[in-house]
Amino acid sequence: MCGIVGYTGKAEALSPVLEGLRRLEYRGYDSAGIALVVKAGEPLWIEKRAGKLGNLEEILGDTVPASHSGIGHTRWATHGGPTDTNAHPHLDNEGKLALIHNGIIENYVELRAELEKRGHIFKSETDTESVVHLLSDARKSHNGDLAAAMRDVCGQLRGSFTLLAIHADEPGRIVGARRNSPLVVGVGDGEMFLASDVAAFIAHTKRALELGQDEVVDITGDSVVVTDLSGKVLPLKEYEISWDASAAERGGYPHFMLKEICEQPKAIADTLIGRLSGLDPAITEGIDLAGISKVVIIACGTAYHAGLVGKYAIEKWANIPVDVELASEYRYREPSVDANTLIIPISQSGETMDTLMAMRYARSHGARVFSVCNTNGSTIPRESDAVLYTHAGPEIAVASTKAFTAQLIAMYLLGLHLGRVRGTISAELAKEIEVHLAELPSKVEQVLETVEPLRALTRKFKDASSMLFLGRHVGFPTALEGALKLKELAYMHAEGFAGGELKHGPIALIDQGTPVVAIMPAEGSLLAEKMASNIQEVKARGAIIIAIADAPLASADHLVRIPTTHEFLQPVLSVVPLQVIAYEMAIARGNDVDQPRNLAKSVTVE
Ligand code: G6P
Repeated sequence: MCGIVGYTGKAEALSPVLEGLRRLEYRGYDSAGIALVVKAGEPLWIEKRAGKLGNLEEILGDTVPASHSGIGHTRWATHGGPTDTNAHPHLDNEGKLALIHNGIIENYVELRAELEKRGHIFKSETDTESVVHLLSDARKSHNGDLAAAMRDVCGQLRGSFTLLAIHADEPGRIVGARRNSPLVVGVGDGEMFLASDVAAFIAHTKRALELGQDEVVDITGDSVVVTDLSGKVLPLKEYEISWDASAAERGGYPHFMLKEICEQPKAIADTLIGRLSGLDPAITEGIDLAGISKVVIIACGTAYHAGLVGKYAIEKWANIPVDVELASEYRYREPSVDANTLIIPISQSGETMDTLMAMRYARSHGARVFSVCNTNGSTIPRESDAVLYTHAGPEIAVASTKAFTAQLIAMYLLGLHLGRVRGTISAELAKEIEVHLAELPSKVEQVLETVEPLRALTRKFKDASSMLFLGRHVGFPTALEGALKLKELAYMHAEGFAGGELKHGPIALIDQGTPVVAIMPAEGSLLAEKMASNIQEVKARGAIIIAIADAPLASADHLVRIPTTHEFLQPVLSVVPLQVIAYEMAIARGNDVDQPRNLAKSVTVE
């Protein structure tokens, strides 16, 4: 939610800042802006435009002055519409201080009133603009020390923020701060980067520094100083980025989403590597599992659906009650949680505000936290007792695909592990599941090889007003995920239902020609029979059935065959055709696949 990038060093700043913005555009694309420090005594150079980054790039031309430090921002609007004026960077009244922000300043109304009384003139409707005026005053009262001013200002702000500031009289210097929003430092050779996400600079350096809560960072091309808000200098926490720069490129695919769908066999295999050899204490290293009486999974969006599948596996294999909670609901209902609760936040980005806050709530009530995350060094794993990383690599398309299947794998690994630790799963069953898990990468490959006809079929339904998804058991969360994907990408009404729940209301939605995607439980199972009846019920009312099944199904109007696997693992295979349907539908309806309207990949505001 808003991408932030800063560069200072030997190169012309415009190019790394633009490149960083391009890689961070998944975080928001309502507007984009850049400010550069030219040379001491000269005004800042600044350009910003509503709309996607392309709009800004179009007007840049050859007029950009030489500069070796600058900041850039790509916005997901919260306060104030997506206009040129509301675009970041924002300037102080002298036009010498530029600031970009990700997050929400909750006390901006009071701050603005106070600053207006002091004579500051506001141009935008944003919460951010209060901060630049505040910072401008603070810099003056700290004798021009921007880092001291930033510490002072952070102490006055409520809410969540990543902030980067530059001043016209200080070429080469960028000061940043963070609270509840991401910011990482990239350490290059004679150059430094600041960004919301390492994707912004992995093409330049793999050395990164973590920044903690309420820390202020002050960089030049060859120095970095991190302090807390009292000004105490903190040790630098460096780590190496394992992602490859090419992983964040489209690599010949028309869209990141298609590339990421096709990368799923690798994402699954990488997440399984080294984790399929019986009881491995390393999986939950750092956390004491003794006495755990309840598991609570907290997550948002697609990650929540992975959690729902996890519930089936963990309850069955580890024989322990599992609740799955929407993070945004969990925190505010003040749920009962204690030291015997194991909290599992699931998050691709590791920065989702609702998940982070729900996790902090549980932690403050004594719960143990074991997170599942795809992003090294992000806030959620940093604040957890232990973490199981998914190795899906960078996911750029806003709609999540490979991160989801990798999260499913993490759920299965955890279910097996807890089952073994608690002695609730037999060695034979655990081994059998491991064998099935190991086969998943090649089975997903098989699905990918056979989904092509689904693309033409999807186009036939492009004018449908609604599409429904039905599933039972682990097929139910899969149906929810299929419907979410379609909503996100096709802007089409879509809903997922449990097959057995259909007759309790949703069946009234079925009309002549309504497309219904049915995710069939494993062949021969009792639930497959039940689901077959549910299909008959909707078919009798005019629905057209697209079945995802591991066996022939006479009642299906269209059948997508998937390989057989263990019944709990089926979502890994059955979700792939659903992703393809959503992808193809977005194209058929002329939508932006990688950057669907109104969305952002990493939601760092509540
Ligand atoms: C946003 C994204 C979703 C994602 C959700 C949770 O809504 O658009 O694709 O599932 O956030 O994100 P997380 O990074 O916590 O998995």
